[in-house]
Amino acid sequence: MDVKSSVLERYSEGAKAQQADLCCPVDYNTDLLKILPKEILERDYGCGDPSRYVRGGDTVLDLGSGGGKICYIAAQLVGELGHVIGLDMNQDMLNLAQKYKQEMADKIGGDRVNFHYGHIQDLALDLNAADIYLKEHPVQNKDDLEKFDAWQIKQKHNQPLIADNSIDLIVSNCVLNLVDDTQKLQLITEIFRVLKPGGRVAISDIISDEFVPDEMKADPELWSGCISGVFQEKEFLQKFIDAGFYSVAYDKWDNTPWKIINNIEFRSVTLTAVKPEQSTALDAGHTVMYKGAFASVTDDKGYVFDRGDRIAVSDVHFNALRYSTLVKDFIFIEPEKSPCCASTWVDSLFTVRAIADSKIGSSVGSGNKPASSSFCG
Ligand SMILES: C[S@@+](CC[C@H](N)C(=O)[O-])C[C@H]1O[C@@H](n2cnc3c(N)ncnc32)[C@H](O)[C@@H]1O
Repeated sequence: MDVKSSVLERYSEGAKAQQADLCCPVDYNTDLLKILPKEILERDYGCGDPSRYVRGGDTVLDLGSGGGKICYIAAQLVGELGHVIGLDMNQDMLNLAQKYKQEMADKIGGDRVNFHYGHIQDLALDLNAADIYLKEHPVQNKDDLEKFDAWQIKQKHNQPLIADNSIDLIVSNCVLNLVDDTQKLQLITEIFRVLKPGGRVAISDIISDEFVPDEMKADPELWSGCISGVFQEKEFLQKFIDAGFYSVAYDKWDNTPWKIINNIEFRSVTLTAVKPEQSTALDAGHTVMYKGAFASVTDDKGYVFDRGDRIAVSDVHFNALRYSTLVKDFIFIEPEKSPCCASTWVDSLFTVRAIADSKIGSSVGSGNKPASSSFCG
């Protein structure tokens, strides 16, 4: 089955007229919908609201932006310093989104949204540039094909549509499931590539409780209807962990399934994750305590946080936890501000920090000075 053709066809129809069977009820922030055109609101084929994760100043990339609804919501949240990029492979959807670009810029008070023609599993390739190349160099034989392949490699290297480490937040609303299974690993690798270190992911999508059998995968209607290509619920989390993300979590999980087919439950979730920082981690006296109510929790690296223990963490790890969905589960104890007293973080230091060394704002005791510090001179 040709996944791409069935998806293209279905969403071209969806751009021109509302497709009721593709709609999944979502609670958006109604204040942010007020300025959106009726036509865009009607062509809503999302299954969640990843725009809730947008922060002021973010550069946001919306994978499979469709009619542009999430982009125009995000544009209201990023503020003057932020920017939003919508990316889709369907020209009809892009046309719908672009049609309101100026009107939305006037209403929001700034032109902060751009739409790109591309595949979400190949974020470097600019499909407009590819179309121009192919018009000038039609592929008629194997040699032409090899030249086109070489052009793509050069183009993606020299002028990537989305550059490495350039995005603060990737959002997506009911799209990842539409990518062919053979390209899903590449898709998650691309998400990792374009995010800045410390960049975040908020992906709303449909998942299944059981793996979808081959006979359902072979049905183009079920595929383009956001059913056949979904990740199984544990697999979805694992793929992001395997790609190198941390703080991978389901931040939202619809208890009531969207659809039940052949006794398989298909439901909407929102997955959040963070790309690790690349800066050198320091031991500057940061401490966290797991609040409970479990006896302990273990992170993806195997580190254990026992309830009530003051655990020494690096500055990078401290901030990662503080800005993750785990913030409510931990107590954060900042060191005294003393930039000269920090040493390079060593993983074996991942132990309980003495209470005397983690008093808040106190200058009593040994403070936050690590035993050996390469930064204290
Ligand atoms: C279910 S609709 C969701 C649209 C939009 N996110 C929303 O919330 O209304 C899926 C969208 O993803 C686009 N899409 C599907 N597969 C894609 C791919 N591989 N690359 C880029 N866009 C894709 C479709 O063209 C369509 O616009």
